[in-house]
Parts: sequence; C-alpha cells; structure tokens
Amino acid sequence: MVKLTPPMGWNSWNTYGENINEQLIRETADAMVSQGLLEKGYEYLVIDDCWALKERDQNDRLVADPEKFPNGMKAVADYVHGKGLKFGMYSCAGNLTCAGYPGSFEHEFIDAETFAEWGVDFLKYDYCYHSPIIHGKYLYRRMGLALENCGRDILLSACSWGDDETQEWIKSTGASMWRSTGDIYDTWESVKDLVRQQEKLHPYNGVGCFNDMDMLIVGMYGKGNVGLKGCTDTQYKTHFSIWAMMGSPLMIGCDIRNMNAETKAILTNEELIRINQDRACRQPVKIRGNWMVDDENQLRYYKQLENGDIAIGLFNLSEEKVAMWVNLDELGLPHSTGKTLEAKEVWTGEKTVVKNAILRKEIAPHDCAVFRARVVNQ
Ligand code: GLA
Repeated sequence: MVKLTPPMGWNSWNTYGENINEQLIRETADAMVSQGLLEKGYEYLVIDDCWALKERDQNDRLVADPEKFPNGMKAVADYVHGKGLKFGMYSCAGNLTCAGYPGSFEHEFIDAETFAEWGVDFLKYDYCYHSPIIHGKYLYRRMGLALENCGRDILLSACSWGDDETQEWIKSTGASMWRSTGDIYDTWESVKDLVRQQEKLHPYNGVGCFNDMDMLIVGMYGKGNVGLKGCTDTQYKTHFSIWAMMGSPLMIGCDIRNMNAETKAILTNEELIRINQDRACRQPVKIRGNWMVDDENQLRYYKQLENGDIAIGLFNLSEEKVAMWVNLDELGLPHSTGKTLEAKEVWTGEKTVVKNAILRKEIAPHDCAVFRARVVNQ
C-alpha cells in the first residue's frame, strides 16, 4: 500500500493504555464523526496494545479479549467502517508486545491473515522483546511482506523508535510511517525532547514513508496513560504546529468524546492540516534567522509547498518573549529578486507583507507563529 500524505487519525494508547473496550471504541468512532474530525482528515481509528488474550487459540491465532471486546474484532471493525472511518490495530515484532501480550514473531503471515479477516486497515507494529539475533530490518520485512500478501490493503506503521538506524532500512520494508522518536509523554519537556530527536532525521521524511514523531498529546491536560504534568493550551498549540510543519502523521491521543473548545480548535486548524498534508511532502528545513545567534530554543523552519507557497514556522521554546526573524534569502528569495512575500499567520489570520527581506515577529514564551506565504510582484 502506498500512502501519499501523512496518515491522520486517533490512537488509544496515550489516554487509555490497557483500559480499552468495545464501548469506548464505538463512542470514539461516533465522536470522530460528530466532532468533525473525520471531515478534517482524521480517518484512522487505531486500537493500541492490550486488546488480546495472553494466549493464542488452538490454531495459533490471536484472540481478542472477550471481556473487553465481547463481540469480537470483526464487529468493532464493522462499526468503525460503518462510520466511514478506517480501522487500525497493534502488534509487535517480538515474542511479546510491550505490555506483555502475544507478539507476531514467527506468526507474521498468520497474524496478517487474521487482521485482514477482521477488516483491519492499519497495523502499528512495535519493537519490544524482539530477537537479539535477527536484525530489525528482517523483522519488519517479514510483516511488510505478510501485509502486502494478506489480500487487504493494510498500512504498516512501524514503531521501532528509530532504534538500529531505522531510517536506513525502513522504507524497503513497505512501512508507510515509522516512529522516529521514543515515546511521548504529556509534558512540555517531552515535546522539546522529541523535536530535538527529530532534527537530524528530516532528510528521511517524504512521500510514502513518513517520520512519525508519536501520537499527539493535545488536550490531555495530564490525564490518562501518558499524562504526567500536562501542558498549557499554548504549549499544545506549539506542539501541534511543529508536528504539522515537520510532516509527522497526526494521530490524536486525547479523549475526543470530551474535548474542550481549545483542544478542538487546535486539532482542526485547517491551514496547518493543509501544510501537513501538502502533496509534495518536502522535508522541513531548519533556518538560522539571525546569523549571530544559534539558540536551540528558538526554532525556525520553512517548507516549500506544492504550489510555490512557503510555510514558515517560528517556535519559541524559551522562557522569554523574543523577537524572531527570518531572512528571506534563506528561503530562496534574496532582496535582489525584487519580490515581496505576502504571509498569513495560520492561528490569527493576520496578514503581513514583507518587502524588506526580513520577516519579524514577537513571540511569547512557548508560543509560535506559522505562516503560509506567497511570492508576489510588488
Ligand atoms: C511502546 C510504543 C507505544 C505504545 C506502547 C504499548 O512503548 O512506543 O507507542 O504502543 O508500546 O505497549
């Protein structure tokens, strides 16, 4: 299966961990539609770890836990499909999943068949308890091949956290996305940490196989499975903006049945989703702004978009208000061209016209500004 833009959806892990069941999944499917998320592009509903029984059946098949999923997984998939959504599940390249349920090692083809029978469209494939002898590239190759031959289009979402130089071999396995970072937690420090882990990996991102910076924590406010301190709405806004700008898959992790207005506004920002889903899928490029300052807490990124527009992201990770600026020369638009840049900020809608080669914006601590800009003649 070939996916042309970063996958978007919802995953159960961040908020629910092992506390998943059919009712929750049905209500979440309902909410994805009624809250308008599907309409914005969030199409995959993914059940993460802890859905199975600890033992396979007599035919060596995985079995859904009947207490959590009394009607079986096919019924869940049918319900999800009935809502116009796609259905995702989880397994692992090791003997066990990270939470200790059966993994797919040496069962890759039979499990791919089971997932196909159930109507699965997406498989997150983890890396815990994997063989110390067989290299990860062979383990992901196996499941990639099994999925391509299971009779159903199932997207492979690799989750080896960037270990064993994943970026060097993951595209060859058939994966459409791969976890390029460790696990996210609901703290500002975790967001900053993942952004740094990502920096050297941008060149590997692109059409068909996307760097996955992990599920979003927007709207968790410290509640749930990976909820620790929680973040402010400003921090969530910056987190979402960075993930969108960097071309990461956008997998929501909060309780979408009970989102507040701020959470919903962040997750459904149309201009950012458009930048994230830009069909060219070019890598984001880090720019320096002020040549004299290389402050790791002031991040500036730009990305050239499919129609010649330019996305510019200014992310103030520091504790102080700062004036951040971008020299348009770095974007390929030196003063000598005589061109002007017309920029619209995606959160405020504010328009700026840059005639003097410098885009400048004051940004509050932990806040950001993202522009969609257009080259014009005057
Ligand atoms: C790993 C993954 C997480 C989640 C858990 C489930 O830690 O990185 O995203 O899937 O396993 O146990």
